[in-house]
Amino acid sequence: MKGLKLVIIGGGSSYTPELMEGIIIRQSILNTSEVVLVDIAGGKEKLHIIKELTERMVGKCGFDIKISATMDRREALDGADYVITQFRVGGLEARSSDEKIPLRYNTVGQETTGPGGFAKALRTVPVILEIAEEMEELCPDAWLINFTNPSGIVTEAVNTYSSIRCIGLCNVPINMERHLSEQLNVPADRLYCEFVGLNHLSWITKVYVDGVNKTDALFEEALFKENVMKNIPSVNGSREVVNILKLIPSPYLDYYFFEKEMVREEQESLNNGKGTRADKVKEVEKELFELYKDPALNVKPPQLSERGGSLYSEAALSLIQSIHTNDGRIHVLNVRNNGAISDLTEDSVIETNCIVNKSGARPVAAGKLPEAVRSLVISVKQYEKYTIQAAVNGDRAAGFKALLNHPLVHGADTAQALLEEIIEANKTYLPNFFRGR
Ligand code: G6P
Repeated sequence: MKGLKLVIIGGGSSYTPELMEGIIIRQSILNTSEVVLVDIAGGKEKLHIIKELTERMVGKCGFDIKISATMDRREALDGADYVITQFRVGGLEARSSDEKIPLRYNTVGQETTGPGGFAKALRTVPVILEIAEEMEELCPDAWLINFTNPSGIVTEAVNTYSSIRCIGLCNVPINMERHLSEQLNVPADRLYCEFVGLNHLSWITKVYVDGVNKTDALFEEALFKENVMKNIPSVNGSREVVNILKLIPSPYLDYYFFEKEMVREEQESLNNGKGTRADKVKEVEKELFELYKDPALNVKPPQLSERGGSLYSEAALSLIQSIHTNDGRIHVLNVRNNGAISDLTEDSVIETNCIVNKSGARPVAAGKLPEAVRSLVISVKQYEKYTIQAAVNGDRAAGFKALLNHPLVHGADTAQALLEEIIEANKTYLPNFFRGR
């Protein structure tokens, strides 16, 4: 039987060894015969280092998986079975600007949430649509598994403008589940968590243990409060919020619920010369690529855990396994709503539990959004839809409406000023906004 051809766009990323580990672990199930790493000219050196390291990883296991590296995306896509996208348009420099510009307006400076995510979406949507168009021609039956952030927006853009089957992924839900499983001391296979929301804006709304709905009981239990609450991430007040809402939030909800504190922390870090997350990631990347060059290294090094992508390979490859083997397992994914959340339009991409088999990912009906967070989700979805319009058409008015609808942007003047500064800072990547000017 013909083996699978997997294409990784953004193959020169420091994350790729993690993905390779997932491919190797599943070789007896997936029978991958070829992995093509694709990157752009600016990433040539990194691409080469990653190719050699992943070849050593495969060689160590004695598998017959051909690894190739190319800057010719069309050649790579030809005949692909799965295309995994994990690219970053503009690299870490653009991320750094995404994080810094909003802080000048006392607004959250984060790569996916708030105006930073907006800027990233403007750069990314046109590129993912180009990839989808090439796929329509060169591998129309392939699955597009998208990790590129902002994952929900990018996935909705593909679903709206392309016939390619695209599933959006994020490693947050799988990490939240694993975390809960550890804290409750219940093995993952006895635990079922229901997720509702959007990417980086989702909550666990129900927790089942051995098929029994334990949500209310858990929130009452002292043990849950002791073990789970104290691990609810980062800032003061989170535990109280969780306890009142009776919803377990994605860590990204801190940006909404504790906005002022998050902005203050980010500004402090910048003023103290520590920079933003992009600056830290640049250092980690440097260290990782030095390690990756070592010809004796033939496994994923533990230092990769300094990046935020833990379990992302597990999320991606277990999804591919479910499609490939038609196993009907449930995964938490970013897919077209299709009525699963009754408060959102059918074409909205949501993050929720899905049944996965060879015909794709079907969201499980979730009904209404929890009332306490309903309007927040609806506003962010509206922001996402305007953002896609802005990115596709180079439409400043849509861009303004996007930021105006974003709960973290306060006031029309701030929205307007942010829009102009973001477009100016990203002009090399936004030809759509400058056509005919
Ligand atoms: C988490 C998020 C990802 C994001 C990553 C950033 O895993 O779910 O969407 O890309 O963090 O990690 P980094 O190491 O780049 O800050």
